[in-house]
Amino acid sequence: MYTLPELPYAYDALAPTISEEVMRLHHQKHHQTYVDKLNAAISQEPDLAQASLEELLSGIGSLPTAVRSAIRNHGGGHYNHNLFWKCMVPGGSRLEGKLVDDIITKWGSVDAFKQEFNQKATGLFGSGWVWLTKDLEIIALANQDTPMMEGKGEPLMGLDVWEHAYYLDYKNKRDDYITQWWNVVNWPFINKRYTQG
Ligand SMILES: [Fe+2]
Repeated sequence: MYTLPELPYAYDALAPTISEEVMRLHHQKHHQTYVDKLNAAISQEPDLAQASLEELLSGIGSLPTAVRSAIRNHGGGHYNHNLFWKCMVPGGSRLEGKLVDDIITKWGSVDAFKQEFNQKATGLFGSGWVWLTKDLEIIALANQDTPMMEGKGEPLMGLDVWEHAYYLDYKNKRDDYITQWWNVVNWPFINKRYTQG
């Protein structure tokens, strides 16, 4: 049985980057719905309760067809939002540690890295996420798909660019939301995922 996790900060703690209203709706309504529909899918195939969510998503192609898309959408939704909340911290943070060294080695500068990430987030058509994979690749995936479904392991970080994540705060200006989001990124958490493999 999957449950909605508590947020690691108060609902208003990321304002003004993300308002209290958006955080409440996003967590209490959207994320809760993914949890409820994931549980409904697992109840149809009780054997799947033995597997971890990571195992289910990594092996999405071999799941029973009756529940495959429900687990893809709602299991993905649960995993992705669990990670998203932890990728943010009130007041933001400094990018430091091995991750910043390797980003500079690969992209030349943190700004160049952010520019590619922003371009992929702005350019994603419709709903989806932009991910930084453990191999330091930036990929945009539709809907609630995760890099695990592509054989790329657990992502280091992800940005939710579904309209429900920003529309009340930024209206149609997805690029403003993406630019502002860097102000609340939890780099120590992401660096720890990177260095701990
Ligand atoms: Fe979302």
